[in-house]
Amino acid sequence: MEQLKRTTHCGALGTQDVSKTVILNGWVHRKRDHGGITFINLRDRYGITQVVVGEGAPAALSAVTGELRNEYCIAVEGRVRLRPDTMVNPGMATGEIEVVADKLVILNRSEVLPFPIDAETGAKEELRLKYRYLDLRSSGMQKRIRLRHEVSFAVREWMIRQGFYEIETPSFIKSTPEGARDYLVPSRLYPGTFYALPQSPQLYKQLLMVGGFDKYFQLARCYRDEDARGDRQPEFTQIDIEMSFADREDILAMTEGLLGYGFKQCLNQELPPQFIRMSYETAQEHYGTDKPDLRFAMPLQDFGPYIHAGGFQAFKDALAKGEADKQAAAARGITLAGGGVKALVVPGKASYSRKQIEELEAHAKIFKAKGLAWMKVAGTEAEPVLEGGVAKFFTAHAGDICKGLGAKPGDLILMAADSRRKIANTALGAVRSKLGRDLGLLDSGCFAFVWILDFPLFAFNEAESRWEAAHHMFSYPQDRYHGILEQDPGSVKGDLYDLVLNGYELGSGSIRIHEPELQKRIFHILGLDPQEAEQKFGFLTEALKFGAPPHGGIALGLDRLVMLMAGETSIKEVIPFPKNSFAQSPLDDSPGEVDQQQLDELHLSIVKTQGHRQ
Ligand code: AMO
Ligand code: AMP
Repeated sequence: MEQLKRTTHCGALGTQDVSKTVILNGWVHRKRDHGGITFINLRDRYGITQVVVGEGAPAALSAVTGELRNEYCIAVEGRVRLRPDTMVNPGMATGEIEVVADKLVILNRSEVLPFPIDAETGAKEELRLKYRYLDLRSSGMQKRIRLRHEVSFAVREWMIRQGFYEIETPSFIKSTPEGARDYLVPSRLYPGTFYALPQSPQLYKQLLMVGGFDKYFQLARCYRDEDARGDRQPEFTQIDIEMSFADREDILAMTEGLLGYGFKQCLNQELPPQFIRMSYETAQEHYGTDKPDLRFAMPLQDFGPYIHAGGFQAFKDALAKGEADKQAAAARGITLAGGGVKALVVPGKASYSRKQIEELEAHAKIFKAKGLAWMKVAGTEAEPVLEGGVAKFFTAHAGDICKGLGAKPGDLILMAADSRRKIANTALGAVRSKLGRDLGLLDSGCFAFVWILDFPLFAFNEAESRWEAAHHMFSYPQDRYHGILEQDPGSVKGDLYDLVLNGYELGSGSIRIHEPELQKRIFHILGLDPQEAEQKFGFLTEALKFGAPPHGGIALGLDRLVMLMAGETSIKEVIPFPKNSFAQSPLDDSPGEVDQQQLDELHLSIVKTQGHRQ
């Protein structure tokens, strides 16, 4: 086969190249026959160039051209010429020229495609993943994978310039409890033992600090056996960072610098030099979540001050029960927040129908709300009137309520009450998010970063009646709580921070514990007995004994970052070979069974149970 090697790319040619002879290699994107003249849109990674096979072409050339179908891989030699004025395509980078073919070689044929490349009506996801190599040819995937490459490059460039070393950490490690389930790798040499794939390089990056490396980063593959969601995959990539002798401010500033550089380089977008900061508590109270989407306002407000004046029993009951539960818990040494009644003012939506409000109520109930009360503001700004829903209980206080909540005639007020303040917040926060989507307030070209600070260090697991680490167990309790760690774990705030972008948790980190004694106290509060702690984390506590420096770090989800930069809502769109929602790969059909011999070598036997894959 004659292989005409390309002299240029399909996105490169312009008017400056007219009369040059060039060779292009690529795929037949589209072919149009116009009675004797054939136009071929030839595509490669760089773009599309129109190739013309004219009337009077030699018979051999016409014959090969006649054979061409979509996605044939071909080589073309020809001369660049200006397109006639009427055929100039300003929407195409190479739209002013075309290449008149002298020679055309088929490098490889293509069968009929399972779905057209770049189809307007997207193919089903399962099919896209099965033929991912074809899906990757689409302009969307090409653009997104390029963006991913550019982001990774910018990250490396910036981090290295700031004096960070890129250091690899192992993929086969000891299984240690982190947030999710581990993926396990059986050891052939030591029957019955397993390596775990890292959920993150957390412990190793801390050991690198003990090892004196001071500033570390890695684009690290992480593995977590948890249910896939739009923003979660079983394997994903973190921009993982750790610094010694650094405090929280250093890490926040470094992250802001990194993202500022990345957004400028890759999207030509300026970010503010510092991101908004918000305490965990404020995020919960104002947005009902620790991942607030700040692309739009509509904060949750406290309706508590208006309840006792009004006569709505459900609200009063929620607060009374909340107070009683709080007292009872306090007697057991547990701090609860009590009840709450929260309100959300939806500007201009007094026009919402009963059905629309019922839809919002159904949504609130998914998040355990008992109901969603509502009323509409009418009248004038000076003399507002409350109408509909639960308005009759509050009519006498319409002026105060509207003034206090900043509600204007034409607005809709939604309210949720619960004996657990967190439920009222979460449910109304979920309604706020839904309204953000429904009302088209989520501009994907807008990037609203916010740091969430001062997280509680511990969370109480009610089902198991024990304290758990809210983030992970190596995070530093803020200094002022060191005296009361054991007495009141619920009130301890950690030196923890999350970075949130457009309602997604983009990154998470903390200042770490570097004193062995403090680490032991935390293990103890978390119910790890000293032996268990020694067995699971002995290597870390041991390392802390040898002059471990104060240190801290952060990990940003690279997949989530690129997804948001690309304006997508699923990380699968920015991962070349993702798993589907059931943690399977339709491409290679993994996970798959293995030979008996492989199992024997690993000393494993499979117990067939219900649900076993046949
Ligand atoms: P964390 O568990 O919060 O912290 O993870 C950090 C970031 O990684 C991304 N991420 C994911 N992305 C895709 N699919 C997943 N399944 C997934 N899980 C997490 C998120 C998240 O914010 N070792 C700590 C970091 C530290 O303390 O330095 C850690 O892993 O964007
Ligand atoms: P009811 O008096 O139970 O018929 O409820 C009247 C309205 O109040 C309905 O719209 C309910 O959804 C709402 N509602 C009831 N309980 C609550 C609650 N705890 N929080 C918010 N709204 C509620």
